[in-house]
Parts: sequence; C-alpha cells; structure tokens
Amino acid sequence: MNVRAEIELDEAGLVAVARGLAARVGEGGAIHLCGELGAGKTTFARALLGALGVGARIKSPTYSLIESYEVDGLQIHHLDLYRIAAADELEFLGLGDLAAGRFLILIEWPERGGDALPAPDLIAHLRHAGAKRQLQLTPCTQRGESWLGSGGGGEAN
Ligand SMILES: Nc1ncnc2c1ncn2[C@@H]1O[C@H](COP(=O)(O)OP(=O)(O)O)[C@@H](O)[C@H]1O
Ligand SMILES: [Mg+2]
Repeated sequence: MNVRAEIELDEAGLVAVARGLAARVGEGGAIHLCGELGAGKTTFARALLGALGVGARIKSPTYSLIESYEVDGLQIHHLDLYRIAAADELEFLGLGDLAAGRFLILIEWPERGGDALPAPDLIAHLRHAGAKRQLQLTPCTQRGESWLGSGGGGEAN
C-alpha cells in the first residue's frame, strides 16, 4: 500500500495504517492530525498509541486538551486543540517543556495552536468519504520521510 497517496480506508484499515506507523516512530517526533470533526483523528491517534504500548485506556483529549503517557522512556503527548480559541491559551500547557527529551507528540487541530507547536515531521490529513475516510500522509522532514519508508530515510540533515 502506498501510504503517501490519498487512500480510502474503513476504520479497520485506518487503524492498521496507524499501527504500522507506530513501529517506526519510537525515536519520537511530531505528527499533526488534520481534518474536520469525525474525520478519524482520534481513531488514528488511539491506534498508534495502543500499538506503541500505551496500555491504559486511551482517552480523547477533547476536554483535557492533553493526555500524556510514557512508554520505554518515550514521552508521548496527545493533544486536541479543538476547544482552543486563540493560540495564547496554550501557554499554560508548557509546550516548551513537553518538547524536551525524547518525545512523540500527536496534535489534533494543530491549526488552532499557531507557532507555539512543534513543527510536524508528518501531517496526516483525514477526510470523510461516505462511510469511509480518505487518509493522506505528508512527510515534512527527513524523519517523517523515513517513517514512511521506501528509501525516503537517510543521513541528509
Ligand atoms: N476509516 C474510518 N471509516 C469509517 N469510520 C471511521 C473511520 N475512522 C474513524 N471512524 C469513526 O468516525 C467517528 C469519529 O472518529 P474520531 O476518530 O473521533 O474523529 P475525530 O477525532 O477526527 O473527530 C468514530 O465513530 C469512528 O469510529
Ligand atoms: Mg478527535
């Protein structure tokens, strides 16, 4: 499956792609999850977190804004900024501190977070497609390229 192309997936298919990605992101980085309400962002994040070994029930951060976990020394932060009205509301989250050490950050509604957010290594765009969803994965850094495999990884930068 070419995950760089836009692909139409049912929920099981979307979960499978997210689980596959989990096998590659152990070094940490940033993933932005874009798409309207109900597009599958939390589904994708949950599948990825579960495959990483987050054993606890994975809550949606819709109300808390952030849920954090740690697996094997990897700090994992799952954010949902839907309820943020202005980027400066994020200050109390202490994003600078989150982005320290080896961390993986998954951000739903990154558009609402402005410049304070870690820049994405990978953007997952999700769209409704009838009863299914369209997923497109766009790498933004060399690291993101390497996550998608097929020769994109390497030593440049
Ligand atoms: N690929 C998919 N195909 C069909 N339904 C899906 C798919 N992915 C998620 N869903 C369903 O869509 C609904 C919303 O998903 P959710 O992940 O909460 O969206 P978001 O976080 O983008 O608002 C859930 O009921 C979920 O089960
Ligand atoms: Mg969500």
